[in-house]
Amino acid sequence: MAILVVGGAGYIGSHVARALRRSGYEVVLYDNLSTGFRRLAQGFELVVGDIADQARPRPVLARADAVMHFAAHAYVGESVTNPRKYFHNNVAASLTLLDSALDAGIRRFVFSSSCAVYGVPKNIPITEQTQRQPVNPYGVSKLFFENALEAYARAYGLRSVCLRYFNAAGADESGEIGELHDPETHLIPLALAASAANGPELQIHGCDYPTSDGTCIRDYIHVNDLADAHVRALHHLEADKESGAESLAINLGTGRGHSVLEVIEAVESVTGRRVRRKLGPRRPGDPPALVADPAKAQSVLGWTARRNLTDMVSSAWAWMQKGSQYPRIGPQSAAKLPAALRARL
Ligand code: UFG
Repeated sequence: MAILVVGGAGYIGSHVARALRRSGYEVVLYDNLSTGFRRLAQGFELVVGDIADQARPRPVLARADAVMHFAAHAYVGESVTNPRKYFHNNVAASLTLLDSALDAGIRRFVFSSSCAVYGVPKNIPITEQTQRQPVNPYGVSKLFFENALEAYARAYGLRSVCLRYFNAAGADESGEIGELHDPETHLIPLALAASAANGPELQIHGCDYPTSDGTCIRDYIHVNDLADAHVRALHHLEADKESGAESLAINLGTGRGHSVLEVIEAVESVTGRRVRRKLGPRRPGDPPALVADPAKAQSVLGWTARRNLTDMVSSAWAWMQKGSQYPRIGPQSAAKLPAALRARL
């Protein structure tokens, strides 16, 4: 059985591709390499193309039994300043991909959704029944596509699973692939970089939130736990195919929240070094706390997260220590890097 992993040269897609292969699937990657990296696709068949292009993916869609769609822009802040980029790719181009898949006869679709669809929830933990009220264009774009999948299930018999990720972190235990973003804005890689001797200082975005220590709380989830959930989602779509059309949404988190200060402590304990940091103002659009209720993932997919925060930080640290994870970094990010790393670019 062949799976087309769209956005397979990106951070989460590349980890899922390996998990699928370990489970015996044939895997083909499709990526325009705008934010993905060839080195994350190494060892896989990679078709370079855009999801907005109807003709390009046709031959690979003809060979595929299911599609997993990871190809999205995913910077919340950027989505506020440049919403057209987000609606163009995450909505319009993604719909083109969805239609191309449907026209190719594909009826199984797994979609990378996000806890951003919930906005600022009133209650924690967040269940799948929590009202979806996104507060930024990124979250709106994810919600739109979820709604499209629901409509396509009813109208065309498409079977889909929307996996709502909380905060993806960590790296494959092999050390071959890991988190790679340019620019890097995520807490764990920035805190690790700030633990280097001449590392750039980490700015803590707000310390006056209504949380136990005043910093934001997030549910960090290991990327390989996410990958495992994707394989299970596919099994679910295969196993229950007699039950017909379906559009399922599932939270993927550990159910345990960690504050920014707790993450910093975990980084210090893994690296044995101090994280140089300073307190800064709140980052616009950051909800105080986002923690998943992962019960549905357990009951429907038989999935629970197996790795904890220390596992995430230590695998990310192992990947970072390889020192080559910024292969084509732009000047903006390069300026933030420790001198030792900059010298190797
Ligand atoms: N943070 C800092 N300093 C930094 C970076 C982050 O204090 O330099 C804090 C943030 O304010 C937040 C926490 O660390 O409280 C985590 O921030 P990340 O940027 O690592 O992740 P986000 O929670 O902002 O983003 C994640 C996903 C998005 C998704 C979003 C939903 O990366 O794709 O959750 O809220 F949309």
